[in-house]
Amino acid sequence: MAYPYTHEREIRVLSRGFGDPATRTLDGWRKLGGYEALEKALGMDREELIEEVKSSGLRGRGGAGFPTGVKWSFMPKEPKGPQYLLINADESEPGAFKDRELMRWTPHQMIEGALIGAYAMRAQHVYIYVRGEFFEPAQIVGRAIEEAYAAGLAGKNILDKGVDIEVTLHLGAGAYICGEETALMNSLEGRRGQPRIKPPFPAVSGAFAKPTTINNVETLCAIPHIVKNGGAWFRQWGTEKSPGTKMFNVSGHVVRRGNYELALGFPMDDLIYDMCGGIRDGRKLKAVIPGGSSVPILTAQEIEGLAADYESVAQAGSMLGTASVIVMDDQTNMVRQVRRMVEFYAHESCGQCTPCREGTAWMAQILRRIEAGQGTPEDVDTLLGVCKNVTGTTICVLSDSAAAPVLSWIQKFPEDIDRLVGGRRGVQIPAGAATA
Ligand SMILES: Cc1cc2nc3c(=O)[nH]c(=O)nc-3n(C[C@H](O)[C@H](O)[C@H](O)COP(=O)(O)O)c2cc1C
Ligand code: SF4
Repeated sequence: MAYPYTHEREIRVLSRGFGDPATRTLDGWRKLGGYEALEKALGMDREELIEEVKSSGLRGRGGAGFPTGVKWSFMPKEPKGPQYLLINADESEPGAFKDRELMRWTPHQMIEGALIGAYAMRAQHVYIYVRGEFFEPAQIVGRAIEEAYAAGLAGKNILDKGVDIEVTLHLGAGAYICGEETALMNSLEGRRGQPRIKPPFPAVSGAFAKPTTINNVETLCAIPHIVKNGGAWFRQWGTEKSPGTKMFNVSGHVVRRGNYELALGFPMDDLIYDMCGGIRDGRKLKAVIPGGSSVPILTAQEIEGLAADYESVAQAGSMLGTASVIVMDDQTNMVRQVRRMVEFYAHESCGQCTPCREGTAWMAQILRRIEAGQGTPEDVDTLLGVCKNVTGTTICVLSDSAAAPVLSWIQKFPEDIDRLVGGRRGVQIPAGAATA
C-alpha cells in the first residue's frame, strides 16, 4: 500500500516503512534490517558510538537543532546511580505532525534508536513520553515495546550482551508545555507540568534528580541508520552544518499536504510548488511559517530561492524548528491567524511567569480587538511593548514563541496595520525583533 504522500524526490530513510503496516511489527522491521544497528552498537565502545553520532552532524529534530552527539557526551561516564533517556513524543506544536507518523508506521525504529542511545549514555531506563491525545500511536508503540521485550531486545541482558535497559511508555495529558524538556520531566515524575529553571541542566540533574537526556522521536529514529551505515554516510545529504535527511510536515493551502522526507537544504520553492503541488485553487502564496507556529512568519518574497536548512532559514529571519511548514495563500486573513496562534500560547502558558501568563493573554485580547476592526494605533504600540517584555524574560521560551508571529506580522504586513488600525503612527520596531 503506497503512503499517500510520496514523491520521487524524497529520500526515504526514516520514512521507508511509511504506508506498510507490516513495518509496525518486529518481523516487518527486521525485514528492513531492523535491530542490526542495535547488535552492532552493543559490540562497540560507548565513546566510539558517541563519536560516530557526532561525526554524522545529526542535529536534534525537536526544534532547537542542537547536535545530538554533543548532547550525549554531556552524560556522566561514571554513573553514581540511575541515568535516564527520555523520548519526547509530546508533539503539540501547531503545524507539527511528523513524530506521530514515525510512531504510527515505524515504532521499532524509534525504540531501536533509543536503546542504542541509552547504551551509549549508560542509561538504564528509557521513558517514552507520548502526547495524551496520541491514542493510536501510543497503542502501536506499546505493542512494539512488548515485542521487543519478548525478543530479548529490551529489559535484562539484551541480546545476551550483559546490558540492561528498561523501556516504559508514559502518556501525558495533552498539555503543550509538557513538550518543553524540564516540564516533561516534572510531568513524568507526577508533578505539575511546569518548566524548571536551568541550571541545573538535565545531564546533571534531570528526571528524578538523576542525569537525563531528552531526545525527540525523529532524532532517535535517525540513530539506527547512522550506526549501521556510519556518520559519513548520513552526511551524503544536506549541508555541512545541517547534514542528513529531515521530515518536512507541510500543512495549509497547498494541493498535497503531508510528510516529505528531504535532504536538508532542499529548495523551499520546490517543496511548495513541486512536491506539494503548489498553492491550491490556483491562488498565490502570501506567507510561510517554516518551522511550526513558534517561529517568525516569512513572506512569499522571502521564500524565493530559500534553502530549507537551519542556517539559511535563520539568515532569512526565521527558524527551521521542527520543519513544520505552514503555507498561507493570498486570501489569508493574517491577523486572524496570528490571533489564533497567540490564543493557543495564552491557553497553554503554564502560568508561573508573570510576563508570559499576563502578556500572552493581553496580546490575544488586543489582537481580538484589532481583528474586530476596533483596534487603534496605540494597540500596535502596546503589542510591541508586550512582545518586548515577554521575550527573554521568562523560565522557558513559550512566551518568546508567542511574540514571534506577532512581531513578524507587524513588521512584514504593514498594509494590514494600515487597513485595520489606520496606520502605525511611526511605531518603532526593535532591531531584530522578528527573529527573537
Ligand atoms: C514550549 C515548548 C514545547 C516543546 N515541545 C516539544 C515537543 O513536543 N517535542 C519535542 O521533541 N521537543 C519539544 N520542545 C523542545 C524540547 O524542550 C527539547 O529541546 C527537545 O525535546 C530535545 O530533543 P532533540 O535534542 O532531539 O531535539 C519544546 C520546547 C518548548 C520550549
Ligand atoms: S514562559 Fe510561560 S510557559 Fe514557560 S515557564 Fe514561564 S509561564 Fe510557563
